[in-house]
Amino acid sequence: MKLINIKEAKDRLNHDGIVAIPTETVYGLGAWIYSEKGLKTIFSTKERPFFDPLIVHVDSIIKARALTMEWTKIHEVLAQECWPGPLTLIAKKNDLINPLITSGLDSVGLRCPNHPLTLKLLSQMEGGIAAPSANKFGKTSPTSSLHVFQEFGDEVPILEGGPSEVGIESTVVGISEGKLEIFRPGFYTASKLSDVLKKHGLSINVSYAESPVAPGQLKHHYMPRIPLIIVPENVDREKIQQEIEIPFENPVFWKQPKSPEIASRELYQKMREFDEKGYDIIFAEKGRDHSREEWLGIWNRLEKAKTLSLIL
Ligand code: TXA
Ligand code: MG
Repeated sequence: MKLINIKEAKDRLNHDGIVAIPTETVYGLGAWIYSEKGLKTIFSTKERPFFDPLIVHVDSIIKARALTMEWTKIHEVLAQECWPGPLTLIAKKNDLINPLITSGLDSVGLRCPNHPLTLKLLSQMEGGIAAPSANKFGKTSPTSSLHVFQEFGDEVPILEGGPSEVGIESTVVGISEGKLEIFRPGFYTASKLSDVLKKHGLSINVSYAESPVAPGQLKHHYMPRIPLIIVPENVDREKIQQEIEIPFENPVFWKQPKSPEIASRELYQKMREFDEKGYDIIFAEKGRDHSREEWLGIWNRLEKAKTLSLIL
């Protein structure tokens, strides 16, 4: 594993290189926003299509605002209350943002990650770091340096920052005409965001985008190697055997822990473990209280990772 320190990370980024950076959500594959070569390397290394825009990471609201054409009161309130943290705000971009970052869109996703090492690195850099999750396109996101190494080997140097605390990617919100739309669910739910805004006297409609317009929100994503089937909690195992056409010998039945925070922290690690431990199929059990909002981020990822759902 090629582990580097903050100074080396900064040097590499400023000289057209890419570096894996730790964040509280997942590890990112970073390039300096002003290095076109670095940005292109992200796409080629990840085998990511150019139509999927990157999130820009900054260490302050001032730096975020400097990259936008329009920074509304809503942006300001959410950034002040939720940053550093797992929330990506979409804003109208200005000319400092390379179209490669936004896939040609006129808006950019901005986020201030809550990780001391990455914040320190960002504080020493001009602009920011563009970083998607540090995994091959469509594969499971990394929540540790080992995961990054398993995906890219020595090709990508890593700033080691320990395991990611939140464990699933940031909530992505679009802000337009006084309404807020959640394109990707995560730690910050609609209720949490709505409460934050209300505290500041802003009564704004916050909703989940039904069919997310966010590019890159493809149906299949985060896929483990073995089939993943969503089943009801405490499902009858005999019944599954009769219903399912996929042959299997060594299934794992996956119950989520009680707390959604712990569930999200462990989610991707578990998927990897199941892949590695020689199981040949995963049955992810959906609990009765999993329709609660705090579980949306987790089940959104599982829905994208699934082969199919069994409703028995
Ligand atoms: O937690 C995270 O957000 C992690 C860490 C590394 O910060 N990053 C991450 O990046 O998950 P990525 O590339 O895997 O997902 C970024 C997604 C895009 O696929 C897209 O759905 C959305 O963010 N996005 C980015 N810019 C956007 C824009 N201008 N408009 C709409 N959606 C955008
Ligand atoms: Mg990703």
